[in-house]
Amino acid sequence: MKNKVIIITGAAMGLGLAAAKELASKGANLTLVDYNEASLAQAKQEISKAFPDVKIITVVADVSDESAVKNYVDQTVKAFGRIDGLYNNAGIEGRQAGMTEYDVNIFKKVIDINLMGVYYGMRYVLPVMQAQNYGRIVNVASVGGIRGVLNQVPYVASKHAVSGMTKNAALEYGRYGINTNAIAPGAILTPMVAEAFKQVNPADPKAAETEYAQRNPTKRLGLPHEVAKVVAFLLSEDVSYLNGQTIAIDGGESNIYGNV
Ligand SMILES: NC(=O)c1ccc[n+]([C@@H]2O[C@H](COP(=O)([O-])OP(=O)(O)OC[C@H]3O[C@@H](n4cnc5c(N)ncnc54)[C@H](O)[C@@H]3O)[C@@H](O)[C@H]2O)c1
Repeated sequence: MKNKVIIITGAAMGLGLAAAKELASKGANLTLVDYNEASLAQAKQEISKAFPDVKIITVVADVSDESAVKNYVDQTVKAFGRIDGLYNNAGIEGRQAGMTEYDVNIFKKVIDINLMGVYYGMRYVLPVMQAQNYGRIVNVASVGGIRGVLNQVPYVASKHAVSGMTKNAALEYGRYGINTNAIAPGAILTPMVAEAFKQVNPADPKAAETEYAQRNPTKRLGLPHEVAKVVAFLLSEDVSYLNGQTIAIDGGESNIYGNV
């Protein structure tokens, strides 16, 4: 990872921030992208303090805005001259509701961010990587990208699409030294998941979390740094023949049939 140039979207908190710390610890230079300007600045400050040798630029962008995505790619090339990796991570869950009650405007927003945002990222990064004959892309799907999830129809649709687009990028760009894979995290304790437990049990979100963890073979939720370790590997040169896969990082939960 030393001196590799990696773009991370949704870098201000959660899985993106954890990956930024892990990659910085390995010597990568970073473009941190997020639409939350204040948290993004805080993230940069925190990482620069811990890893002063790492070069970091921040770009405020909403990944559902195509021109903003083009801009974060252009800014990265201007600052570093190349792009070795893209961690296409920014995403939202939407509200939880049954299929026929789901708010159509929220449905479209989830698709715009989770599906189109990931697509735009690849659309503008792939030509840069193709010219270098090298690149690594990690798209963030979810267990909702390989299974159905109650009351989350647009999220599940968008994350299945992420897995599908990953396969296409792999087969169209594998010949250019570009490896594209996706991860499918289970419940990882980030601000997004904390918010989901608040929706499930507003009076006692901690009880909802404890109950949820009982379904997992490990009897606990995952932690952001556990995902970041896998992501760092998937963005490294060592991933030379793994391409087009969606890798579950969920303590084994998505393989269960019956009770554990
Ligand atoms: N946490 C989990 O358990 C879990 C499980 C499966 C998949 N995921 C996926 O992982 C990714 C990160 O999730 P998280 O849990 O870290 O979420 P989070 O809400 O804690 O952090 C997401 C970050 O992305 C940013 N963001 C959201 N929409 C954006 C947009 N349109 N443009 C730019 N930045 C944007 C937010 O400001 C925030 O900093 C998402 O794609 C999510 O669907 C998370």
